[in-house]
Amino acid sequence: MALENVVEEYMRVRPTSQKLHERAVKVFAADGATARARILDPFRPYITHARGSRKWDVDGNEYIDYIMAHGALILGHCHPAVVQAVQEQMAKGVHYGENHELEVEWAELIKSMMPGTERVEFFSCGQEANLMAIRLARVFTNRRKILRFEENFHGWVDEVVLTPSSPGVIADEVKIIPYDLDRVEKELASGEYAIFMTEGGGAHMGGQIPIDDDFVRALPALSQKYGTVWLLDEVVTSFRDSPGGWQATIGVHPDLTTLGKCVGGGLGVGAIAGRADIMGVFSPKTPPERRIIHTGTWNGNPLTCAAGVAACKLYRSGEVQRKTAQLAAYLRQRGNKALKERAINGRLYSRSIVHLYLGPIDYEPSDDTLPPTKDIRKIMNPAMMPIRIRLGLHLLQRGIATMSGRFFILSAAHTEQDIDQTIQAFGDSLDAMIAEGSLSKA
Ligand SMILES: Cc1ncc(COP(=O)(O)O)c(C=O)c1O
Repeated sequence: MALENVVEEYMRVRPTSQKLHERAVKVFAADGATARARILDPFRPYITHARGSRKWDVDGNEYIDYIMAHGALILGHCHPAVVQAVQEQMAKGVHYGENHELEVEWAELIKSMMPGTERVEFFSCGQEANLMAIRLARVFTNRRKILRFEENFHGWVDEVVLTPSSPGVIADEVKIIPYDLDRVEKELASGEYAIFMTEGGGAHMGGQIPIDDDFVRALPALSQKYGTVWLLDEVVTSFRDSPGGWQATIGVHPDLTTLGKCVGGGLGVGAIAGRADIMGVFSPKTPPERRIIHTGTWNGNPLTCAAGVAACKLYRSGEVQRKTAQLAAYLRQRGNKALKERAINGRLYSRSIVHLYLGPIDYEPSDDTLPPTKDIRKIMNPAMMPIRIRLGLHLLQRGIATMSGRFFILSAAHTEQDIDQTIQAFGDSLDAMIAEGSLSKA
C-alpha cells in the first residue's frame, strides 16, 4: 500500500460502502451516521454480517471487531445460546403486553449475581436507567441536586450529558467536581443533593480515566452520613468485569446500580438494581405524592429478556470474564511492546476494554491496567484525538475495527491468533503513520 495514500486505498476497496454513505448523508444529518462513534472521514464501512470476533462489509472486506456493539457483546457476535434463545422467543411472540416468566428469571439472575440487589427495574437503554435513578433519588430524598464527576459519562440527556454547557441542555441542578473526597463531603454537607453518580471502573468505557478504589470505597459512608443516594453506573462494566459487576471486584455495594450493554446479551436494555426501600417508590401502595409511575413499551420485553437470560447464565461462572481479561492483557502486552520498539510515547492500558493513550509518559505504572500519567488533561488531550482517528483508519484498512482508534473492546470470542493479527496490523499502521508524518517518535 502506498503509505501516503491510505484514504485513497481505503476508498478504492470500499466502493459499495461509499455509495451507501452518499445515500446516508441525505437522510442522517450527522455526516450520514446514526451515532457519533460511526462518523469517519471519508466514511466507515457498511457491515452485512458478523460472527464471533469478526464482521464483514458490503464490499467483502473482513474485520476483527474491537467495537463489539459499543461493549455489549462480551460473548462475541451471534453466540449460539443467545441466537437460539432469541429465535425461539421470536417464534413464540415478541411482546405480549403482559407479565411473563422470562422477565422474572432475568431479574432473579441479576439479583443472584449482584450482592446487595434487592429490586430490579428494566428500561430500554442505559441512560434511561440513569435518568430514572435520578428521579428515584429525588423522590426518596425530597431534594433536587445532582453531583457528578469530571469526564464521567452517563448518556446524552440534560442531567447526564458529559458537558452540561452543551447547546440545548438545561442542567441547572447538576454540579461536576473532580475525584476529591474533601470536595465530595463539602458538597454533600450542604444537604441539597439527592444523588451523586460515578462510573464503574473509571470514566469513559470502563476506565480510560481510572478511578481510585479507595476513593470509591469511601463513598458509601458519605452517602449514609449525608443521606444522599449513591448511584454506580455499571452500564459498561456490569458483567464485563466480573459476575458481580465491577463493584464486586473492589467490594462495595452502592445504593443503586445501573446496568446496560452486556446484561442484554446484545439487545438494547437498561436496568436498575438496588435497595428495596428506594425502589419502593414504584409500588402502587406508595402514597401518590411519593410515587413514581414507570411506563415504557419495551420494559422487560420477551425478546430482550430471552437474550438477557441466555447471556446472564453464561456470565455466572466468571469464565467469560476471565477469558476476555486474559486476551486483553495479551493485547496490552504485545501492543505496548510494539509502541516501545518504535519509541512512540504511548501505552495501551485498562482492563477488558483496552484504551490507547498517546502522549508524555510520566511514569511506568506497576501494572498495565493503569495509564502512564495521572493527569486527566493529558489523557483527554484533544490533540491526541486526530492522531488516534488516523490510526483507526489505518487499522480499518488493515482489517481491524476499533472505536476511533481509541478503544479495543475485547470479547470471549476473540482468540490469541486474532490478537497476533491485530498486533501485526497495529505495528504496520504505526510504521505507516511515522512514514507519512502523522505520528512522531519520542
Ligand atoms: C457509563 C455509561 N453509562 C451510560 C451509557 C448510556 O447507555 P445507553 O447508550 O445504553 O443509553 C453509556 C454508553 O456508552 C455509558 O458508557
